[in-house]
Amino acid sequence: MKLLVAVFIAVALEGSIAEKMRFDNHTLYRFTPNNKDLIDTLSNLEASGDPGYNFFSPIRGQNVPVDLLVAPDRVQEFKTLLEQSNVQSELLVPDIQKLIDNENVKSDRLSGSFDWRQYHTLDEINDWLRGLSDTYPEHVTIVDGGVSYEGRDIIGVKISYSPNNHRHTVFIEANIHAREWITSAVATFVINQLLGNDDPEIRHLAESYDWYIFPVFNPDGFAYSHTTNRLWRKTRQPYSVLCVGADPNRNWPYQWMQGGASNNPCSETYAGPSPLSEPSTLSLSSFINSLGFQIEAYISFHSYSQMLLLPYGHTTDHLDNYEELMIIGEQAIVDLEKRYGTQYVVGNIAETIYVATGGSMDWVKHEYEVPLTYTYELRDTGEYGFLLPAEQILPTALETMDSLVSIFKSYEILHPRGQNLVLESKEQVQKDDECCVGIGGLE
Ligand SMILES: *[C@@H]1O[C@H](CO)[C@@H](O)[C@H](O)[C@H]1NC(C)=O
Ligand SMILES: [Zn+2]
Repeated sequence: MKLLVAVFIAVALEGSIAEKMRFDNHTLYRFTPNNKDLIDTLSNLEASGDPGYNFFSPIRGQNVPVDLLVAPDRVQEFKTLLEQSNVQSELLVPDIQKLIDNENVKSDRLSGSFDWRQYHTLDEINDWLRGLSDTYPEHVTIVDGGVSYEGRDIIGVKISYSPNNHRHTVFIEANIHAREWITSAVATFVINQLLGNDDPEIRHLAESYDWYIFPVFNPDGFAYSHTTNRLWRKTRQPYSVLCVGADPNRNWPYQWMQGGASNNPCSETYAGPSPLSEPSTLSLSSFINSLGFQIEAYISFHSYSQMLLLPYGHTTDHLDNYEELMIIGEQAIVDLEKRYGTQYVVGNIAETIYVATGGSMDWVKHEYEVPLTYTYELRDTGEYGFLLPAEQILPTALETMDSLVSIFKSYEILHPRGQNLVLESKEQVQKDDECCVGIGGLE
């Protein structure tokens, strides 16, 4: 028996390093647990780290739907479990491998270029960011968010058109969850718009704020989702022989482990052994500390489910400037919907999706009283889930950009900034020429 276990572990480790995992005939179901026993069974299953079950959404409690990917050799067991509780399931995706195969564009013509018609690897994204600082040395600086557990650079860009904007800092993070590829695609799109779109509303945004944008907050997990397991969510710091990684969005030091997070290393929502146990969250938190109260907006991109979420995750109470964030958020989802009809829901995390603690946004909100704080759950609502086809990158990015414009427009109406807007727009005219050379083409 011991030998068997050893062999199994060796095979599992080997597999995780050497080859891309396949999910042939793995089926995605949506169902709504209706009793405590079923919830407990599911929670145990989730915490066991059994690779036959992959929870696309955390178990949120009774009467809240769960999206669960089931391996073909577990379907019978799964169906029996639901039948015992008289729970119906909806089949969302019959064979997830087909979606993985069809997700990205694989064309030689596109390789080597950077655009929003395909998903890119970490190296491609980082090379593109570094290239921007060469192309726009006056406005773009590479910022160093530290080094991940496996030694990867965590880099972002600072975009600044005026030395007077530092009190109006906007921070954007994406891909803290590795498999949510649409999020870094949207973050890089936002960067491109801020640098290259001459639409007056976007120029105003770009030039009235200092922007810090980190497209990939979890580089180890993201790289692993490209090389080995497309459905990887967590970091890559090992915690037990078979279970690797903590959930970096349950690892921040505000209300840590106060609900909606697990203390089991095999769980997808493992909060880590202590707050900031992950080198990436630790170093990014010190980077965020260096900006501190200058941060006027903190935006976090996740997928999927089309929601615009506000703090906090530990309580449904309407804390801080909840009312204002709701007013701004409601307008933002109306403006987001205008382009393609994509419908979002807005609300506090705990009341809109589930109790979840240790998230980055909640920590930043609480620590620095940041006025504008939103977490996006981008497209879609489950048809493709994390495997959103590359042809949806541009529409997703464009509608998201519309909502960002809306958020800041509403915010500035509620909090007029005063005189320096005029000065800034003068500077903008001067710099218009140099700003747009060699970029753009995309709306
Ligand atoms: C997936 O299921 C189909 C239909 O049952 C079967 O023909 C096929 O061999 C399966 N694929 C794999 C890789 O198991
Ligand atoms: Zn996420």
